[in-house]
Amino acid sequence: MAMIAKQCPDIEVSVVDVNADRIAAWNSDRLPVYEPGLDETVRQARDRNLFFSTDVDEAIRRSTIIFISVNTPTKTFGVGAGRAANLEFVEKCARQIAEVSTGHKIVVEKSTLPVRTAAAVKRILDTSGNGGSFAVLSNPEFLAEGTAVRDLLAPDRVLIGGEDIEAVERLATIYGRWIPDERILTTNLWSSELSKLTANAFLAQRVSSINAISALCEATEADVDEVAQAVGRDSRIGSKFLKASVGFGGSCFQKDVLNLVYLCEHFGLPEVAAYWDQVVTMNNFQKGRFSKRIVETMFNTVSDKQIGVWGFAFKKDTNDTRESAAISICRDLLRERSRLKIYDPQVSERQIRQDLAAQFCGSDGSITDAGQALLDQNLEVVNSCAAAAEQSHAITVLTEWDEFQSVNLDRVFASMQRPAFLFDGRNVINRDAAVASGFEFHGIGKP
Ligand SMILES: NC(=O)c1ccc[n+]([C@@H]2O[C@H](COP(=O)([O-])OP(=O)(O)OC[C@H]3O[C@@H](n4cnc5c(N)ncnc54)[C@H](O)[C@@H]3O)[C@@H](O)[C@H]2O)c1
Repeated sequence: MAMIAKQCPDIEVSVVDVNADRIAAWNSDRLPVYEPGLDETVRQARDRNLFFSTDVDEAIRRSTIIFISVNTPTKTFGVGAGRAANLEFVEKCARQIAEVSTGHKIVVEKSTLPVRTAAAVKRILDTSGNGGSFAVLSNPEFLAEGTAVRDLLAPDRVLIGGEDIEAVERLATIYGRWIPDERILTTNLWSSELSKLTANAFLAQRVSSINAISALCEATEADVDEVAQAVGRDSRIGSKFLKASVGFGGSCFQKDVLNLVYLCEHFGLPEVAAYWDQVVTMNNFQKGRFSKRIVETMFNTVSDKQIGVWGFAFKKDTNDTRESAAISICRDLLRERSRLKIYDPQVSERQIRQDLAAQFCGSDGSITDAGQALLDQNLEVVNSCAAAAEQSHAITVLTEWDEFQSVNLDRVFASMQRPAFLFDGRNVINRDAAVASGFEFHGIGKP
């Protein structure tokens, strides 16, 4: 929305949210989301034609186009728990729009939704008692966190699905202000909804594919980066997104693959469901394999050993930690009674503590006494790579932040216990330099 406002000064954009703290942060100097270039984009348009508010009804009344962009998390209860998308928030939005609207509005599904959700949204909207009429479009968002501003400025494609040609045209015209026509694709509603889930499933599948090969590399002394390079040269395969790692994270990949699995089951396609389910199984295996390897390498015990953790966000250039591989790996190491010193350039101490506390909750959903004691005694959040390494027995790299590549490894090594281990879960540290500094080095998929 900030990008639309920036590119189209004549269009008024109101971003509304029920979370007042978030809106206050969007109106402040410290935005709630860290993304390179976002501060500048917001600053250019805010209070000119970009407004943040909690007055949802007023925004509905004033707007001719309404984007539903609320969260669609995996259901944690009832039918489809652990797989299906929870559409409660989308439905609430549709009901509110139906209730408040008068006149004609274009309602755009921007959230990632299961196929055929638009039919449900349309039915709810059509119950509007105020004589409102609606066109429903699907316009899934393909930006990647960490490169969001760049992706929005020059997207590979914008996808608009819908049956109402006039509404499709209207939305396409907005994007057309800065995106070339050939990049604006229009499809039917269901293709658009399914394309978003499919794109994320394919991306997640690629990560799981190379991660599966990384396990085999470790067993056979092949090098996964060399294999990826050789494989990626095939133009049919392509070289992007073939980086082995400790596992994918983020709020979308797992949620969307599981949603696809659920849809396949729902439509009586168990074999297709099982095929996609394996992408998530492989990712969980990769995360568990990494923490196990740390423990085994460090003489089968990390109890009372200090481990420096570099990176907690699910990827570089974001402060988002949702489903970050770091969460489960830190949890595993804490369960093994190691003492963690965590450093991330953008994630707050509060967020790290909150994410790890959630891993030690009892059946009532609150942290257990034992879990709290473990965190109090064994978790420290620090503000530099050097501080995380100081007196540690090992360092583990869990996010690929650029700054980790320019750390002075000699100095870091000198401050650590011996033998000093370096477990690179992102293959971003120069192995030869680390070994030359004295580290025992372990990368993903490395001999
Ligand atoms: N994060 C991404 O990179 C990304 C990329 C593409 C698609 N998506 C999709 O976009 C959607 C949102 O993702 P997100 O990461 O921004 O989620 P989020 O949880 O960070 O934000 C959702 C916001 O919606 C607000 N909200 C919930 N119900 C509301 C209501 N009835 N009225 C007003 N506000 C309400 C919440 O308070 C919250 O601030 C999801 O469907 C996701 O799959 C996200």
